[in-house]
Formats: sequence, structure tokens, C-alpha cells
Amino acid sequence: MYKTQILKVKQKLIRENRIDEIKDTEAIRTAAKYILNNQLVAFPTETVYGLGANALDNDAVNKIFVAKGRPADNPLIVHISNKRQLLEIVEQSISEAANKLIDTFWPGPLTLIFRKKEKIPAVTTADLSTVAVRMPSHPVALALIEATELALAAPSANSSGFPSPTKAVHVYNDLNGKIPLIIDGGICNIGVESTVVEIKENKIEILRPGAVTKEMISEVLKDGITVNLVSESEKNKPRSPGMKYKHYAPNTPLWIFNQDKLKRLLKDSKINNKKTVIVATSQTAVHIKNKEIKAELIDMGSNDNLAKIAYSLFSLLRDIDQRDFDLVLIEEVPSKGIGEAIMNRLKKAATKII
Ligand code: TXA
Ligand code: MG
Repeated sequence: MYKTQILKVKQKLIRENRIDEIKDTEAIRTAAKYILNNQLVAFPTETVYGLGANALDNDAVNKIFVAKGRPADNPLIVHISNKRQLLEIVEQSISEAANKLIDTFWPGPLTLIFRKKEKIPAVTTADLSTVAVRMPSHPVALALIEATELALAAPSANSSGFPSPTKAVHVYNDLNGKIPLIIDGGICNIGVESTVVEIKENKIEILRPGAVTKEMISEVLKDGITVNLVSESEKNKPRSPGMKYKHYAPNTPLWIFNQDKLKRLLKDSKINNKKTVIVATSQTAVHIKNKEIKAELIDMGSNDNLAKIAYSLFSLLRDIDQRDFDLVLIEEVPSKGIGEAIMNRLKKAATKII
């Protein structure tokens, strides 16, 4: 058991991207000591909070799996702060396509898969011969990597199976007593995890959709390279092994609904007898507002601003869990742009799709 400490980094330093000054804060100096002692530290990234450890140390990485209750066959993403670190951990030369993606999207929410060097322990990559690497853009994450001069293995800092944390308090609620330190850097800007991509010769496969969308990736690559989102059926023979587990789920049963089904749902006595919360887009919420319904209504924002829905999604699911609803009905959003990532997470969190 640890007494979990929370140390804040001032928002002004984060907003102004003052990495050198952040490196000099008590939060980062304390965090770096823990990491160098093979302990875990939760830290903010632009996507979600991560739970970091020295990626090259077997014992340190093992602690991540224990703290999260994470299955050992689910590999971790290694976080770096410069390209030199990439060359230290990957075996292959970096392809032209990979270089283009790196130059365009790093630092940022894109994770690339490479063949790994021997020195990355098997526990980090769950015995795979490949390693997933990303360079986050959040100044606190970069400051921590720079201060330790280490590559940091970091999954999302939630208990395995639960929604990813987008605020320090989410990490605290899940991991209090299990880790020594959380760096509080406020709310994560993006709100869903990075896009995970594998580069084949003339093909890019998106193993997990995220804020860097299929369209954005296609745009920077030359003609002749196709970009595909790995389909649902492929997920049964998992390539990104994390995809086979139930994920992102609140304790409250969650059903996804389509707007066409709404009228019928509102009349359904089975639903009306439950303590239900309806989470709808603004476009749908206006139609519900005038109706006599028992269920509580939450407007999750406009369909025209899917980034904003992504930003508050996990936080919303966690807030709902704090209240004793029997059922969450959440509306489907268009699977375009970051909507692809939202639907990917919702489908895994859902107990039913109607
Ligand atoms: O935005 C993010 O990526 C966050 C922040 C903290 O950086 N991290 C994150 O990590 O979401 P995690 O562990 O929750 O998800 C990592 C995903 C899993 O689906 C895992 O299976 C996949 O990346 N992955 C990791 N290494 C892989 C590899 N070598 N090959 C295929 N998939 C891999
Ligand atoms: Mg995760």
C-alpha cells in the first residue's frame, strides 16, 4: 500500500508549453526520482492520463500490470520525447511512410508499431517482437521523459476494463493506495487514447482509431498506400491484443441507441421502470426535452463537434457511475473523423446495441 500523493503543475506553465520550467517543478523532480527508483507515476498526456514506468526495466513494468490488474498479454505503449530515443529501441530502419507520419503527427496522439530491440523486456511488449511507440505532445509528459532520460512504458492510468482517466481525480479513484504519485496537470485536451497504426509495405492498418484520423493519415501519404481501419471481425483474432478485452466500461449497463429507435425506446415499459439516463447529442436532445419522460436527459453536445464529445466522453461515463442509475442509453454518433474513435470505445463499453 502506498499513500498516494498528488502534485500539481500550474496550468499557466502547461498552456504556455514551458517544458524547461515544468522540469524544474516539485512535481516533476519528485516524479523523476520515483521513476528512477523503478516506481510508478501517473502523468497527464494530451489524450488521457498514463501510468508510467521505465520501459527497459522488467520489475518496474511488472508493477504497472499489478497496479492496473491488466492481463499480461496486453502490450504497453512506450513514450519518448525525441527521435533519437526511437532509434535506441527499434530494430529496423525507419521507412519513408513512418518518417512522414512522424514528421507530421509527432509529438501528438499517434502510436506506431516497430520491430523491437532486444533490450526492451518481454513484459513491456507482452512477448511480441514489436513495440508500440508514441511521442506525446503534453508538456508535462515531455518534461517527465526528459527529466528521467528514459523511455516510459505507459498504459492509460485506469483500473483495467474501466474508462480511461482524463482528470487526476479519475486516476486517484481507481489507483489510490496502489501507486505513490499522480501528477495533476488538469483535464486532458483530447479525451480518447492515441491512434495505433501498423505500417506494412503499401498498407497502413489502423489497429485503434483515435484523434489522428484515417483521413488525416491518408492525406500525408503518397498515392498507392492504402489506409484501413482493422475491422470488427479481425478483432476476434487480435492484432492489437488490447482489443479483445472488454474496455472503457462503466459499472452501469450501457446501451447504444440510434436516433430512429428513440420513439420506441421512450415508450418501452422495461426501460421506463428502470432508473435510466439518456445521453443524447444536442440534435436529438431538443426533441426529447419537450416530451414527458421519466428518464434523466444529458446533452453530450452537437454532432457537428465530435471532438468536444470525445473530450468529455470518459468523464461523463465516470460521473454517471457515481450516481445510481440502472441503465445508460447513449446515442450513436457518426463514424467519421474522431467519431470513429468514439464509436470504437462505446461499442466496447456497451452491453447492448439497439
Ligand atoms: O493515448 C494513449 O495511447 C494512452 C496514453 C497514456 O499515451 N495510452 C494507452 O495505452 O491508451 P493502453 O495500454 O491503454 O493501450 C495501448 C494499446 C492497446 O490496445 C495495445 O494492445 C496496443 O496499444 N499495443 C501496444 N503494443 C502493441 C504492439 N506491439 N502491437 C499491437 N498493438 C499494441
Ligand atoms: Mg487503456
